[in-house]
Amino acid sequence: MRIAVAGGTGHVGTHVAEQARVRGHEVIVLARSAGVDLAADAGLTETLRGVDAVIDVVNVTTLDADEAVRFFEATTHTLLAAEREAGVGHHVALSIVGVDRAPYGYYAGKLAQERAIARGDVPWTVVRATQFHEFAEQIYERAKIGPVHVAPMMRTQPIAAREVAAHLVTLAEGAPAGRAPDLAGPREERLADMVRGFARKNGSRAWIPAVPLPGPSGRAQRDGSLLPGPGALLGTQTYAEWLTSLPAQQRRRR
Ligand SMILES: NC(=O)c1ccc[n+]([C@@H]2O[C@H](COP(=O)([O-])OP(=O)(O)OC[C@H]3O[C@@H](n4cnc5c(N)ncnc54)[C@H](OP(=O)(O)O)[C@@H]3O)[C@@H](O)[C@H]2O)c1
Repeated sequence: MRIAVAGGTGHVGTHVAEQARVRGHEVIVLARSAGVDLAADAGLTETLRGVDAVIDVVNVTTLDADEAVRFFEATTHTLLAAEREAGVGHHVALSIVGVDRAPYGYYAGKLAQERAIARGDVPWTVVRATQFHEFAEQIYERAKIGPVHVAPMMRTQPIAAREVAAHLVTLAEGAPAGRAPDLAGPREERLADMVRGFARKNGSRAWIPAVPLPGPSGRAQRDGSLLPGPGALLGTQTYAEWLTSLPAQQRRRR
């Protein structure tokens, strides 16, 4: 098959492109660093001619609902319009477990993306996944008050991005399925333990307090709103196994 991966240079997108190539597919990467800005009218139709499926894993880093909605509506619109013109038969997108239960600004963007896909006329599959194991590193790097790293109190059932990627390629190989069953990791974790584990693995002895975030968003993190339901498919690699598989202490962190 010929598969286009929108966001094919990102955390999960890199794995998607790699897994698709390993399975013998021809891969086209769509990203700004590959010369395609999906938030603008990218003139993509010719690029997508002959493509069987598009896997959309683009992302914007924001907590602002308006910005998230603008980004996901614009990128989805660009892709779907070009797919329709080019005759692409399957649009596959990755969303997040709990987007309709937790009132984060970013999640408003993901919901807008899901709605745009369902309203569109390109046959589609949307799968929601839980946080990636790699999320712990993002929190370690970003959640800082001055020199102190903090971790939100959060219940999560994380999954390796590589396993999410393999599942996305499998979905793209199949027929459009609408909302596919949710995907999660094998066991529930506390985000603060994950962040501390990541820090220790990288040589940091920093004190990392678990902080309850205020308001409805913080409550959703603690009350299980982001956990998968009983019908979810589960990956196999635990967070601890993923951590062990990382190269040892690439650099010393504070
Ligand atoms: N992180 C998680 O724990 C998690 C869990 C479940 C679902 N998800 C979903 O998974 C998806 C991917 O997340 P991620 O963490 O892998 O993302 P990421 O690492 O931030 O990568 C984002 C990708 O999007 C591309 N991109 C951004 N803006 C673009 C634009 N205007 N035009 C074209 N390409 C653009 C980036 O490439 P360039 O910068 O080169 O443009 C990059 O390839 C997101 O939709 C997210 O909601 C994430």
